[in-house]
Amino acid sequence: QGGFTMNNLLMEVENEIAVVTINRPKSLNALNSETLAELDQCFSEISRRKDIRVVILTGSGEKSFVAGADISEMVNASPAEGRQMGLLAKEAFLKLETMPQVTIAAVNGYALGGGCEISMACDIRVAAENARFAQPETGLGILPGFGGTQRLSRLVGKGRAKELIFTCDQIDAEEAYRIGLANKVVPQTELIDYCKKMAAKIMSKGSYAISLAKEAINTGMDTDLSSGLTLEADLFGLAFSTEDKKEGMTAFLEKRKADLKDF
Ligand code: HXC
Repeated sequence: QGGFTMNNLLMEVENEIAVVTINRPKSLNALNSETLAELDQCFSEISRRKDIRVVILTGSGEKSFVAGADISEMVNASPAEGRQMGLLAKEAFLKLETMPQVTIAAVNGYALGGGCEISMACDIRVAAENARFAQPETGLGILPGFGGTQRLSRLVGKGRAKELIFTCDQIDAEEAYRIGLANKVVPQTELIDYCKKMAAKIMSKGSYAISLAKEAINTGMDTDLSSGLTLEADLFGLAFSTEDKKEGMTAFLEKRKADLKDF
């Protein structure tokens, strides 16, 4: 059903759910430039596809989601190359963050540095009990360069983001849940099934309405309240033009289950 294999990632599509697996198990799924380029291409393709409504992003193996950017590639990189890597990730992760589909990171182990950062570009993070999150960059003499200084502070607040980035502390799944970095913690063996069940629940709602809500939340978080509220009103108005709105409200009044189809 339109899945594919690239050098460093796999995508399988079933029942309108795409499972994207970062697949470099020998280096614990570390992100090198080739993987970033493949992710960018994969996210562009998914955003265009109407047959995919939820994306689950995970890492291969049982130990690691993504152990960060590839240190063996960065060790000899020049300042210009470092910046280029950051910009490549910026573009790819923005595609992930803003695609109309709902994205769930299934964090199956280490989510370090770039791994924590790519999970934060997803809408929702579900952590396996063995997940570990950290931003270890300052211990390597660099700083988070794939969005960590921006997305971590937006997700967990400025104080906690600074503590995690300055100490490089690894936190477990429970602590990530406590501070709002993980939405849910589940046993490793149930991780993908749990994400698929969550996907099914999300897909029973209005997918187009969800994509508008996602846009309102994402854009609104980066703007002032009044502009965010105006955007919300605009998108709210737009939703009134859809078949789903007619069906959703009529079904409620007729006391039956709504059959929502727009995407
Ligand atoms: C390259 C990596 C890697 C990484 C692991 N490996 N993480 N290679 N880049 N980020 C490789 C190891 O070198 C090793 O290769 C193999 O994967 C298995 O890892 P081990 O260290 O042997 O496993 P273990 O002892 O279980 O420790 C797991 C670990 C540790 C705790 C996850 O590997 C680790 O600390 N990794 C680095 C985490 C990190 O600092 N990430 C942030 C990167 S900076 P060999 O060949 O020896 O088998 C970053 C910046 C983003 O992400 C922004 C950039 C612009």
